[in-house]
Amino acid sequence: MKDVRIGLIGTGGMGKAHATAFKNVPLVFGNEPARPVLEIVADLDAAAVEKWAGEFGFNRWTTDWREVVADPQVDIVDITTPNHLHAEMAIAAAEAGKHIYCEKPLALTAVSAAAIVEAVEKAGVITIVGFNYFKNPAQALAKQLIEEGELGEITLFRGIFDQDFLADPHIPFSWRLDRKLAGTGALGDLGSHTIGLAHFLLGDIVEVCGLMSTVIKERAVPLGGSGYAAKAGEDAPMRAVENEDITECLVRFANGAIGTIGTSRVGMGRKLGLDYEIQGTKGSLYYTQERMNELKLYRHTDPEREKGYKTIYTGPEHGDYGVFFGLAGIGLGYNDQKIIEAHDLITAVALNQPAYPDVRFAYGVDKVIDAIELSARERRWVAVSEFD
Ligand SMILES: NC(=O)c1ccc[n+]([C@@H]2O[C@H](COP(=O)([O-])OP(=O)(O)OC[C@H]3O[C@@H](n4cnc5c(N)ncnc54)[C@H](O)[C@@H]3O)[C@@H](O)[C@H]2O)c1
Repeated sequence: MKDVRIGLIGTGGMGKAHATAFKNVPLVFGNEPARPVLEIVADLDAAAVEKWAGEFGFNRWTTDWREVVADPQVDIVDITTPNHLHAEMAIAAAEAGKHIYCEKPLALTAVSAAAIVEAVEKAGVITIVGFNYFKNPAQALAKQLIEEGELGEITLFRGIFDQDFLADPHIPFSWRLDRKLAGTGALGDLGSHTIGLAHFLLGDIVEVCGLMSTVIKERAVPLGGSGYAAKAGEDAPMRAVENEDITECLVRFANGAIGTIGTSRVGMGRKLGLDYEIQGTKGSLYYTQERMNELKLYRHTDPEREKGYKTIYTGPEHGDYGVFFGLAGIGLGYNDQKIIEAHDLITAVALNQPAYPDVRFAYGVDKVIDAIELSARERRWVAVSEFD
């Protein structure tokens, strides 16, 4: 057994999810081929990060992320900070020879993502980007069914990612609404997952025609805090929202399929509405993240009297489900996807092999995001290759 030592940057929502995942990797997957060690964590507030480091069992803490990157004890730099910091941190990590775990979207623009890819490939370090939703065993099954031709030739992909965490106009301003800190709005935050899932399942999107809308044009400036739970005072000043609440987009895939991708952060009633339908010449698949342990399959070859979608409950036959439970239908949760993702990275680093999805994959997603934004701005179809 080998130790792979983690240097985490950021202790917000995703910092907690990553630290929890690393702690659980040996409990779920065992100690081979390596065991993650929570070596050092960085965030801005000394008292808060010291307390957090103690609670999660990190050996050391700091308020300077550069110490994490330069630390000879660290094997993997794990970046869970707001989007605008990913590029600087990832490039510094690659230049220091560290392997990288980075949250999505990889960067604010495809140009910036390309700079990360260049630094990573020059350094020869191993990377994984947090497109955790396709670590769900249900997606491993979906991919298998598609690759085995169960759906025939794929004709249509309709994917959405809607949440309503910003539907209430009284929810205050946060970094997610600041163009310089977040990049696009719903598209980069949520839609990046749908684009990633579409690329994982069907291959690349090559052409897009997008439309964007900002529904709530200004929000109150909060008293403090950056996360989902931030609050603003009664007479707080208002600040203009700088990116979109909703994106809708027509897409064309390299394999000839067409489709739509839609995303909203003000989608009333949708809590984790990452849904898709994939139609082919022989059958279809339907999935919603709100029922993440189920995949619906329609086979047109079924006898006439039995035709209809059937529900497959995920089980040990599918992806990494079997390391959690020996029986189907018990069900995994969001954090289990992160445990699988963290385990994939630890394994790749221990065995010195590529991890998936890496920064080059994430660069492909960022190119689609830029193409959609340009298309919406200029009201025209845009080829993703414009961002190569
Ligand atoms: N994969 C997913 O399902 C998923 C879900 C949510 C967020 N994300 C991504 O994770 C990233 C973080 O999102 P979040 O919701 O955790 O945000 P958050 O606001 O909850 O946490 C960000 C943390 O980074 C810290 N930070 C900011 N600047 C720093 C610096 N210079 N040095 C050290 N720490 C610094 C903040 O203090 C905060 O603790 C974003 O890129 C987001 O898109 C991914």
